[in-house]
Amino acid sequence: MKSTLLCQSCQKEYQVIEPRWNCTCSGLLTLDFHTRFPIDKIKKRKPTLWRYREALPIEHDKHITSFDEGFTPLVQEEFAGKKVLLKQDNLFSSGSYKDRGASVLVSKIKELGIKKVVEDSSGNAGAAIAAYCAKANIACDIYVPEKTSAGKLLQIEQYGAALHKIPGNRENTAKAVWLAAQSTYYASHYWNPFFFQGTKTFVFEVVEQLGWNVPDAIILPVGNGTLLLGTYIGLKELQREKIIHGLPKIIGVQAENCAPLAHAWKNHCKTSTHPFIKETIAEGIAITHPVRGAEILNAIQETHGAMITAGEYEITDALQSTLRKGYYIEPTSAVAIAGFKKYPMKQDEEVVLPLTGHGLKASETIMKKK
Ligand SMILES: Cc1ncc(COP(=O)(O)O)c(C=O)c1O
Ligand SMILES: [Zn+2]
Repeated sequence: MKSTLLCQSCQKEYQVIEPRWNCTCSGLLTLDFHTRFPIDKIKKRKPTLWRYREALPIEHDKHITSFDEGFTPLVQEEFAGKKVLLKQDNLFSSGSYKDRGASVLVSKIKELGIKKVVEDSSGNAGAAIAAYCAKANIACDIYVPEKTSAGKLLQIEQYGAALHKIPGNRENTAKAVWLAAQSTYYASHYWNPFFFQGTKTFVFEVVEQLGWNVPDAIILPVGNGTLLLGTYIGLKELQREKIIHGLPKIIGVQAENCAPLAHAWKNHCKTSTHPFIKETIAEGIAITHPVRGAEILNAIQETHGAMITAGEYEITDALQSTLRKGYYIEPTSAVAIAGFKKYPMKQDEEVVLPLTGHGLKASETIMKKK
């Protein structure tokens, strides 16, 4: 199982035993790793994301850091008279789909023998990394914007992480961690390629739950694109191994108030652009400079997908209708529902969307919007 880290900018290669999260030229790294899907074996394994063991880049099982997470339920619901399959990734141990990425990334960090990491987050990725570091006995410093939901801040601290609340917006937090990352390993959910190796399991599960078939479209909320790119990487791996034959459309949804990728998509730009940004209730995707913007736009283009935006009222309305159906989600998760409601669905189209974060993390935001 040879795997290599490859720089997207200068094509320099690194062996994975090197603890690198970016290139010496500051370029983004991609993991080149040969995956396999022995379906008969997979079917007999525990219903966790580690059932796709031959597709996860950890050398030795003893390094796997897991709460037996994954294989979340996929259930049918109806919004605006249209049927959709909801994947309940709000049901993870730390309360968001970020556990997928954290499980694989922290397992790799353990395998590399690293004892301390730093991470920045709008809350959920920080909570997930803090939980898995607690399990793996790895120290971590988590940087968050000071306005992050109180529930997420408390959760990070209770896992035992050192919490750094940074004044200003999400970009200020990213700058603060960048400095810290000059001397400590950066367990970044958007720079570190091993995080995407975990988020890709979302689509492995969807495909398996649909009888090893792809849906017609997958609608995802997008900030840094960790779930969207994980989905794309996973689909390409399944296609390469001839498990699936076509690709579903990948539809990204952003809050209208912070939509650099939707703006770029509309203007046919290949990388994210920076329109006027305002505050949004969707705190998890309030990302003004997504570093993997070009990759995200490419994934959408290649799958014949699209970018949709949702206004603040549309998000709160979608939140309300989802809560009333009994799914307790946070406002950021409702962005995908708002996107689905606007999505021009064809008859008999099969659409999947994830519920990405649990509502209990953001009670005060939900309360304010009543
Ligand atoms: C609940 C929730 N949904 C969706 C996302 C979007 O993830 P990404 O920034 O990786 O696109 C986030 C990110 O923090 C989140 O917290
Ligand atoms: Zn490089």
